[in-house]
Amino acid sequence: MFADQPTSSSRASRPLAVIVLAAGLGTRMRSELPKVLHPICGRPLLAYVLDAAATLEPARIVVVTGAEHDEVEALLPSGAERAVQAERLGSGDAVRAGMAPLSDFEGDVMVLNGDVPLAGGELLAALRRHHVDCTARATITTVVLADPIHYGRVLRDANGDVTGIVEARDASPAELAVREINVGFYVFDAAELRRLLPAMTADNAQGEYYLTELVHRFLQAGDRVAAFLTADVEASMGVNSRVELAAVTAIMRARILERLMLEGVTIQDPSSTYVDWGVAVGSDTVLLPQTILAGATTIGAGCTVGPGCFLTDVRVDDGATVVSSHLVGCHVGPGCTVGPFTHLRPGTELAAGAKAGSYVEIKASRVGRGSKVPHLSYVGDATIGEDTNIGAGTITANYDGERKYPTVIGNDVKIGSDTVLVAPVTVGDGAYTGAGSAITKDVPDGALGVARGRQENVEGYAARRRARRRDQGQE
Ligand code: UD1
Ligand code: CA
Repeated sequence: MFADQPTSSSRASRPLAVIVLAAGLGTRMRSELPKVLHPICGRPLLAYVLDAAATLEPARIVVVTGAEHDEVEALLPSGAERAVQAERLGSGDAVRAGMAPLSDFEGDVMVLNGDVPLAGGELLAALRRHHVDCTARATITTVVLADPIHYGRVLRDANGDVTGIVEARDASPAELAVREINVGFYVFDAAELRRLLPAMTADNAQGEYYLTELVHRFLQAGDRVAAFLTADVEASMGVNSRVELAAVTAIMRARILERLMLEGVTIQDPSSTYVDWGVAVGSDTVLLPQTILAGATTIGAGCTVGPGCFLTDVRVDDGATVVSSHLVGCHVGPGCTVGPFTHLRPGTELAAGAKAGSYVEIKASRVGRGSKVPHLSYVGDATIGEDTNIGAGTITANYDGERKYPTVIGNDVKIGSDTVLVAPVTVGDGAYTGAGSAITKDVPDGALGVARGRQENVEGYAARRRARRRDQGQE
C-alpha cells in the first residue's frame, strides 16, 4: 500500500456530510404540493429520509430544495442547512447546488434521493462502511429487482466492476434487461466530487444533468467506483407517482402496526387499521377494525378503540373506551366512555370516568369527573362540574349568530331531558332543570329551573270530538 493511500480505519473517521436531494418537481405526482412533502402515515416523506440521515450523526446535512419550497424549512432537523437549486436542471445539478455550502468540506459526501423514504439508518451506515472498506472514491447503492421498471440500470463489466448507470429512458433493450438498479444513495470523496462537477454534461434523453452521469466522470478519471449491493428491496422503493406513494405508505403502515403489536397492542384487523407515525398506544389496548389514529394522538393502556373510530390529535387516557366515533383535538380522561356515534371537537376535555354517549356532539367544553352526557345532545363552550347528568336531547344554545357564549353547569346537577340552555347561563350545584325547559336565566344552587308551558288536560276531549264528527256526517 502506498504511504499516501488512506487506510480503511483513517478513512472511517473522515468527516461525513449528507446532501439530501429534494428539489425535484415531482411531475409524475401531478400535484401542487412538492413531492417530498406528500405525507406517508401523517408525515412528509422527506422527514423519513432526514431521520435516517441524522442517525449517521454527520458533520453537515444539506437539503437541496427549490426556491419556492419554504415549507421544507420547517422539517429540517437542527443544524441542517438548506441549499436552493435555482433551476431544475436534474439530480446532478442538484448535487452541485448541495455542494455550494460545502465548498470547504473535506471528507465523504453521502448523497440521498429525498424521495426514497423507507431506508433506515442501518442501511446508510452499511453503505458508508462499504465505501470505506472498498477505498473507493465513489460508491453507489444497488439492488436487484424482479421488475426494475423506470429505475436506472447498473452496468458492470465481465469482472463485475461497475462501468456506469444508464437511465431507463436512455437504455438499449439489452441494458433494460438488467435487473440490478441504482437505488439513489451514493457516497463520494468531497474533493474529487468538487473537481468533477464542472465536467458534467446534459447529453441524454431528458437534457438534464444526471447525477448518474457524474458516476461516469469518476470512472473516466480513473477513480474506483464501488457498488454496495443491498438485498433490501423495500428500502430502495422510490416515490415518483401516487401509485408508488400508496405502495410505500402500505409498507410504512404495516411497520407501524407491527411495532405496536410487538409492544403489546392488540390489533384485531391490521388490514383496516391506520396509525400515523408517532402515535403512541399503551399496552393491552385493543384497536378494533376500521380505526384511524392520526396526527399527534396518544392512547393509554388498557383502552378499547373501535370499531369505526377516527381520532386525530387526541389524547385518550388509560382504560377508556371509544366506539364508532369521530374525535379531533380533544382529551378523553381515564376510564371514560365515548360513543357510539359521538363527535368530540377541538377543546373538549372529558375528566376521569366521564361519558359522552350516542349521538352527542361536544365542542370546546369540559365535562367533569364522573359526569355524563349520555344521549343526543349538543354541548358547546360549556363547563360541566362533577357527577352531573345531562338529560337526553339537551342543547346548549351558545351562538346568537354573531358571538358564542358560555354555559356553566355545577356539580351534582340533573339537567332534564330536552333542556335548551340559552347561553350565557349558569346552573348551580345540585340544581335541576325541568324536562323540556328553555333555560334563559341562571338557576341557583339546589333550585329547580322550569321554563315550559304548563300542561292542561282537557277531560273527555276524545269522545266529544268523535261525536262532533259524527254529527257532521264524516264518520
Ligand atoms: C433517479 C436516478 C435513477 C435511480 C432512481 C432511484 C438520476 C438521473 N436517476 O431517477 O438512476 O434509479 O433515482 O430512485 O438521478 N432532484 C432535484 N433536482 C432536480 C432533479 C431531481 O433535487 O433538478 C432530486 C429529486 O427531488 C429526487 C432525486 O433528485 O429526490 C432524483 O430525481 P428523480 O427525478 O426522482 O429521479 P428518478 O427518475 O427517480
Ligand atoms: Ca425518484
